[in-house]
Amino acid sequence: MSIAPDAPSPPGDAQDARPPARSFDQLIAGCGLPRLEARALLTLATGRPREWLIAHGDEAVDAAVADRFDDLAARRRAGEPIAYLTGYREFRDLRFEVSPAVLIPRPETEGLVDLIGELAPPAARVLDLGTGSGAIAVALAHARPDLRLVASDRSAAALAIARRNAAALLGPRAGGTIDWREGSWWAVAGAGERFQVIVSNPPYIAERDAHLTRGDLRFEPRQALAAGTDGLDDLRRIVAGAPAHLTEGGWLLLEHGWDQAGAVRALMDDAGFTDVRTVPDAQHHDRITLGMAHARAGDGGRLPDPGLE
Ligand SMILES: C[S@@+](CC[C@H](N)C(=O)[O-])C[C@H]1O[C@@H](n2cnc3c(N)ncnc32)[C@H](O)[C@@H]1O
Repeated sequence: MSIAPDAPSPPGDAQDARPPARSFDQLIAGCGLPRLEARALLTLATGRPREWLIAHGDEAVDAAVADRFDDLAARRRAGEPIAYLTGYREFRDLRFEVSPAVLIPRPETEGLVDLIGELAPPAARVLDLGTGSGAIAVALAHARPDLRLVASDRSAAALAIARRNAAALLGPRAGGTIDWREGSWWAVAGAGERFQVIVSNPPYIAERDAHLTRGDLRFEPRQALAAGTDGLDDLRRIVAGAPAHLTEGGWLLLEHGWDQAGAVRALMDDAGFTDVRTVPDAQHHDRITLGMAHARAGDGGRLPDPGLE
């Protein structure tokens, strides 16, 4: 049957008014997202790898898959981080599971892992405070299987994800060698328990900082980000408690905001650390400060325990 172009549609055709099927390439081109992101979401919606999507770009997409993709793309356009939509983020070439229960690991934190790899003696005891997804602890265990790692977080949900990442990335047996502890900062360490290296990427954003209401940060856990009126509350607690849990000559390494290096160095100087210095990250921002712990004269070789949590 042929229909003249201006003829009215026959009854019953209205329900077939659904737009024609789009191809994979058309979905990517029309979604208003950068190509890389669109392809990651299409991988998620189809369950097909990137290479398959490229090879089949001009094929028509099943309506249910297109709907799934449209929904993901709308959430992304509304600002939801791509890592929470896909459920993972690469950190030091390892694929970490993430969810809104954990901070999305950042590339600048990779520098902490490199530094510890250089500083930690063989079989050193290393403590990762506020481990989140386990990014630092698991990447360290992967790079330096000799290290004896303890990793803590106040959040049980974060620790569950960190454990799963360790099992997936290190294997069930190796993953079990990290000692996971739930609790607030120094409450997880036994009295007199000492480490050769303590590392932390704690919350360090001021509570009223407008960045908390923008971009990815809006979707990340507040308790992973905000730390008091000047953003230094948790850094203060960690620096103050660290000397009681570091061996003589042990290292404390801290990630902090790009404008907090001076304040963190002052905290470490006041707490008796030496060799205090700030190291720029890959983007040349001053975001990692480290210092060496020493017994103070009059301590009888013991470092004081300020009893802080
Ligand atoms: C900035 S995130 C860092 C996560 C991970 N280490 C990373 O680098 O991706 C800070 C982490 O500290 C944890 N945290 C916040 N307050 C804490 C506290 N009082 N004691 C222990 N962990 C805490 C949060 O739950 C969060 O996982």
